[in-house]
Amino acid sequence: MTVDLLLGLQWGDEGKGKIVDVLTSSYDIIARFQGGPNAGHTLEFEGNKHVLHTIPSGIFHPKAVNLIGNGVVIDPVIFMKEIKNLAPYNINFDEKLLISKKAHLILPTHRLLDAASEASKGKSKIGSTLKGIGPTYMDKTGRNGIRVGDIFASNWEEKYQKLTHKHLEILKNFEGAEADQLETLEREFLESIDALRTFKIVDSEHYLHQAQKAGKKILAEGAQGSLLDVDFGTYPFVTSSTTTAAGACTGLGVAPNKIKEVFGIFKAYTTRVGSGPFPTELFDEDGATMGRVGNEFGATTGRSRRCGWLDLVALKYAIKINGVTQLMMMKGDVLSGFSKIKVCTAYQTAQGVQDYLPYDITSDDIQPLYEELEGWEEDLTQLTTVDQFPKNFLDYIDYLEKALETPIKIVSVGPDRAQTIYR
Ligand code: GDP
Ligand code: IMO
Ligand code: MG
Repeated sequence: MTVDLLLGLQWGDEGKGKIVDVLTSSYDIIARFQGGPNAGHTLEFEGNKHVLHTIPSGIFHPKAVNLIGNGVVIDPVIFMKEIKNLAPYNINFDEKLLISKKAHLILPTHRLLDAASEASKGKSKIGSTLKGIGPTYMDKTGRNGIRVGDIFASNWEEKYQKLTHKHLEILKNFEGAEADQLETLEREFLESIDALRTFKIVDSEHYLHQAQKAGKKILAEGAQGSLLDVDFGTYPFVTSSTTTAAGACTGLGVAPNKIKEVFGIFKAYTTRVGSGPFPTELFDEDGATMGRVGNEFGATTGRSRRCGWLDLVALKYAIKINGVTQLMMMKGDVLSGFSKIKVCTAYQTAQGVQDYLPYDITSDDIQPLYEELEGWEEDLTQLTTVDQFPKNFLDYIDYLEKALETPIKIVSVGPDRAQTIYR
């Protein structure tokens, strides 16, 4: 059996959590393959609103197994908080949640290093979520990391102390870096490690191979977005993992020829949280309206998200890199009431007009070139079928589909599970 893949095509927060939740009824297994608690995936259903960080977004469905893959980095403290928050739902985690032995652990000192590194960058800081993501992936590729499987080893404490000691030595190089709270952080961490041991920790790649052999349907859930990919994103203003399709292969042990559908998800406009280039960013009333109506605040940090028009140059790039087969457009409802809708189709650069993503897209020397479409007044949030769509909204979808040369199969018109329309 093949594996389908869902990932964000912009700078994250496209609505991945909502759509994974919607699609879960068609899958047996939902598997996260990269990122960690920097992610915030929001689900809304039956009057409940829930934000997940490490746990896959299929957890609320009665049958699906949710797997945290080897490519994910886990902060046991945040993980256990997520588990506690799920208590009202009476979920049987023994049957429904699996964790890869090969997933790496975020230590308290990884978080301290993240904070120290950001502080040292001053104005050029990344705008990290400060969850320790960068330092943990650095230790992984530097071959110093600690994996979930290590917490069962007899020399686990020794490993932990050795790496912590190393981090504290590195911290000394950062002016003003503090390790005062380490004792408290450490206590919380070690308690959470004890709790983590009681979960189902597995050889996740073997589990997935067997599941494929048994004909199970698997959906891989991406975190962040393609423009935050460590290779193809707006480097260095990116996260430290492979957020694009290839990340599902390395983050789960799924072979490339086993991936079938690649669902690419995008907002009808663009947002970004944290620093870094964003050519179509709006600093005017239109941007403020998108932020207000779209309730654009980070699900993990609560920071305001920067807002702007849709950027087709960036979107086409993301579609190519990922081999997207189907698109899903989110938050069209937020654009109701704009008399004109703008879409960036090319950039004016020092080298002339460019319709592909340049090496360096710092906003200063790039001007977006726009096409303008007619807006619509109607509220979309109560609609349930495509034939109820206002003409100008349909025209917007048709325009995008042609420009992107990829079908838009799902249109989302509100945060709730029910506000999802198939085309
Ligand atoms: P993720 O990180 O990709 O899962 O996305 P987030 O949860 O961080 O951010 C998406 C936000 O938009 C959440 O607050 C969702 O509840 C909300 N949302 C998702 N789809 C829609 C939609 O179609 N319309 C509106 N208005 N909100 C949506
Ligand atoms: P989801 O899965 C939006 C951004 C941060 C920062 C940069 C690096 O909810 O879409 P990091 O903490 O990874 O070192 O931060 O990446 N970022 C996200 N932005 N959505 C996310 O996840 C993000 N995860 C990280 O704001 O700019
Ligand atoms: Mg999010």
